[in-house]
Amino acid sequence: MTSFNIALNFEDGVTRFVECKAGEKVLDAAFRARINLPMDCSDGVCGTCKCRAESGRYDLGDEYIDDALTEDEKDSGLVLTCQMIPESDCVIAVPASSTACKTGQSTFAATVTKIEPHNDAAVVLELDVDAAAPVFLAGQYVNIDVPGSGQHRSYSFSSAPGETKISFLIKKIPGGVMSTWLDSAQPGHKVELTGPLGSFYLRAVERPLLFLAGGTGLAPFLSMLEVLARADSQQKVHLIYGVTRDLDLVQVQAIEAFTAKLPNFTFSTVVADAASAHPRKGWVTQHMPAESLNDGDVDVYLCGPPPMVDAVRKHFDDNGVKPNSFHYEKFTPNAAPVTA
Ligand code: FES
Repeated sequence: MTSFNIALNFEDGVTRFVECKAGEKVLDAAFRARINLPMDCSDGVCGTCKCRAESGRYDLGDEYIDDALTEDEKDSGLVLTCQMIPESDCVIAVPASSTACKTGQSTFAATVTKIEPHNDAAVVLELDVDAAAPVFLAGQYVNIDVPGSGQHRSYSFSSAPGETKISFLIKKIPGGVMSTWLDSAQPGHKVELTGPLGSFYLRAVERPLLFLAGGTGLAPFLSMLEVLARADSQQKVHLIYGVTRDLDLVQVQAIEAFTAKLPNFTFSTVVADAASAHPRKGWVTQHMPAESLNDGDVDVYLCGPPPMVDAVRKHFDDNGVKPNSFHYEKFTPNAAPVTA
C-alpha cells in the first residue's frame, strides 16, 4: 500500500518524519507515531489543528467549516491536519514546539569513515550511520557531539537525504572544539548526532533558484543540488559561492560536477581578499547577475555568516529587489544556526 513521508517541522527547529498511509489524515498518522499535534475537535470545526503545508500535494477534505479554515487561509497554504489527506510526501510547519507535541529530537550513532582536509580552511567529514539512513530535508543540520568534550557543534548535511553515508563540510577553526578533535580523529571512531533540525531547507521548486553560499555555508547547497539532480530538475539554478581567501575555495570540483547533472545550473565563485588574483573579487552582491534575480520571480536561499546575510538584504532593499521568497541561515562558529 502506498504511504507518504510527512515532515513535521516544529517551531523550535526540530523536525520529525511520520509515515502517512494512503487515505490517512495527518493528525492520525502523527498520533500513531506518538506525536500529539495541536487539536481539539478533530472534526474540522475549531481550527486548533491549523498548520502550514510548505510542500506536497494533498486533499484538504470537504468536511470542515469556513470558521475553521477560510478560503484565504486555504489559498495561503494553511491546512487542518485533522482533515488533510496527503497525496504525496509533504512538509508541514507546526506552530508549536516539539515538547508541546510530546516529541523531541532523534539521536543516532555513526562511525567515521573519512576525514579529508581541504587546505587549512575546511574538512570534509564522512560518516557511516550505524542504523537506518537519517531522514532529513536537504539544507537541514544536525548537532554532532564532539567526543570527549561534553559539547556539540551544528553542521548542515552536505550529502543528500536517504543515504547511510553522510557528510559534512566543517570550517577549520584553530583551537576550536571540533577542529581539535578532527586533528586526531580516525576512521572507526564513533560519534553521536542529534537532529535533523532547522527550517532552512529546499521548498517546492516552482521558479528559478538563486543560491548564495558564504564559506562552509556551501554545505547545504551541495545537498540541495544533489536532490535537484536526482529529481532531474530542469529549473534554472544559479549558485554564487563567496569566500574570504583563495584557500577557502573548497569543493569547487563537486560544484562543477553538477553542471553535467543539471542542464540549467550555473555558478560562480567570488573571493573577498583584495590581494587575490581571482577574476571576481569582492562580495557576492557585486557579482549577482540581473538575470539571476529574474525580475523578482526567484526563490533565494542564503547560508553564510551574519554580515553576508545583512549585506544581501541591504543590496535587495537598495536595488528594489523583492524576491518571491528569501530563506536564509546565519551561522557563527560555536553557535546553533539561525534560520528564517
Ligand atoms: Fe478542530 Fe482540526 S482539531 S479543526
